[in-house]
Amino acid sequence: MDALRIRGGNSLRGELHVSGSKNASLPILTAALLAEGESVLTGAPNLVDVCTLATLIEQMGAKVTHDEDAEEIRISAAGPINAEAPYELVRTMRASILVLGPLLARFGKAKVSLPGGCAIGARPIDQHLKGLERMGAHIEIEHGYVEATTKGLVGAEIVFDVPTVGGTENLMLAASLARGTTVLRNAAREPEIVDLAKVISSMGAEVEGAGTEKITIHGQSQLQPFHHCVVPDRIEFGTFLVAGVMAGDPLVVCGGIADHQAALIDKLRNLGAEIDVDEANRRTTLKRIERPSALDIHTAPYPGFPTDMQAQLMALLCVANGTSSVSERIFENRFMHVAELNRLGASIKVEGGKAVIRGVERLSGTTVMATDLRASASLVLAGLLADGETTVRRIYHLDRGYQRLGKKLRGVGADIERFSE
Ligand code: EPZ
Repeated sequence: MDALRIRGGNSLRGELHVSGSKNASLPILTAALLAEGESVLTGAPNLVDVCTLATLIEQMGAKVTHDEDAEEIRISAAGPINAEAPYELVRTMRASILVLGPLLARFGKAKVSLPGGCAIGARPIDQHLKGLERMGAHIEIEHGYVEATTKGLVGAEIVFDVPTVGGTENLMLAASLARGTTVLRNAAREPEIVDLAKVISSMGAEVEGAGTEKITIHGQSQLQPFHHCVVPDRIEFGTFLVAGVMAGDPLVVCGGIADHQAALIDKLRNLGAEIDVDEANRRTTLKRIERPSALDIHTAPYPGFPTDMQAQLMALLCVANGTSSVSERIFENRFMHVAELNRLGASIKVEGGKAVIRGVERLSGTTVMATDLRASASLVLAGLLADGETTVRRIYHLDRGYQRLGKKLRGVGADIERFSE
């Protein structure tokens, strides 16, 4: 297994480039199942999750060409397609559930393994299923699989109980090939939803309101393939912003869209950071601050503070002047990084869904274990701050969501190397 060795304390100077968004690429790849011709996604990051989804679609019978150097994935789902997603792949990546809507809409049936829980929480899919049923799907859960059939999906008005990103995506995909108009209320508003809406619109289904809580999709009987360049990854961007506040001398983060991390940027400014965003919203310059002020944050659906950024910001709050708190309101078990940060000398206590962080003057390097994707990024950031050497083990989690993180950070001056244990 690979690990990262980091010697903390270096300044980060120069430019860091943000890759394409993982969480936008995944639903867009499944949109390729909606059309017969060849769809092309460019800017797709070379990440394990993206490859897993491409493999899943290929195993169903689509022709998939993945040019990793050109960051381009071509998918031709002309058929015949076996509308089944097996447990072996779904268990490695929950987002596989996003094939359900497109398969059902185009082929009238789908069999997809239930994703089950994961390290950060139970993560049910009831909202996906409820919405598909409202559109005319017959759904049964048998032997750990969702088995869905329909004689043809029809547009419906669906109100989500919670704003779910995956649920909104699955239903947008299904609605694009449904008969009539679908209205989604209390929809997720994330930038990944807006990117997917662009793709679906370019395929021929009219989408209104993406980015707001009400999305209207006018379904079509047939869709064209798409050619789309994916939006930059806002979580990788946010992770680099935190690194810049920790160690920028200065650090320029290129490509990330500052508006997509407005809540994080606001918090970073509150804790004392000077952040300069250029007019085009695509170059963000940051400098190290002496010692951050303490802060209270709570995670919320977009445009609130992202759950996917709380672990990384917490690494910085460990050395804040005063006591901070982080309340996690999206997932029930997303504090696995706390015990590891405490091993690095932090002073954090978790009480229910809230972590209380008493700022210490410094962290001190040791060996820590990555537990999930964003927790791993938090440990890497903590390693950049800590005195001495930090080893982050089990970084396969990191490879799911960050394209060559170690190499990118080394390029701006971090003392970081990857090795096999
Ligand atoms: C997406 O997960 C992201 N994954 C996650 O990214 C992210 O943390 C999450 O949205 C929240 O922003 C992808 O885009 C591939 P949700 P998703 O459905 O869609 C509850 C990362 O590190 N819920 O918006 O699975 C659910 O339990 C990650 O890249 C239901 O109750 O999240 C949670 O409390 C991990 N029923 C809340 O809604 C449902 O049917 C939000 O989940 C669906 C969700």
